[in-house]
Amino acid sequence: METQNVPYKRQIFVCTHNANGEKASCGDHNGEEIFRQLREIAKERKLHPMIRVAQAKCLGQCARGVNIMVYPENSWHNDVRVEDVTKIANQYIQ
Ligand code: FES
Repeated sequence: METQNVPYKRQIFVCTHNANGEKASCGDHNGEEIFRQLREIAKERKLHPMIRVAQAKCLGQCARGVNIMVYPENSWHNDVRVEDVTKIANQYIQ
């Protein structure tokens, strides 16, 4: 095993898990679409992959989705909706 420093300036984890109605999940509120839009913005701004937008498959707060977790800020956003993408992008993808 090798250990090194995290190779990214920032990591934005967007929960995209969809329980298909069996229980509350981020998929109920377009987690996949939010992930896709944020990833696309990072690419358009030529900040990907130094600012990495990654999918998470459940962050453990399913009823409060869509959940987004950001490092190194150690920030958590819940109840994120597609209309919040611009605000999140302007806060973290710059
Ligand atoms: S489904 Fe997103 S936190 Fe569990």
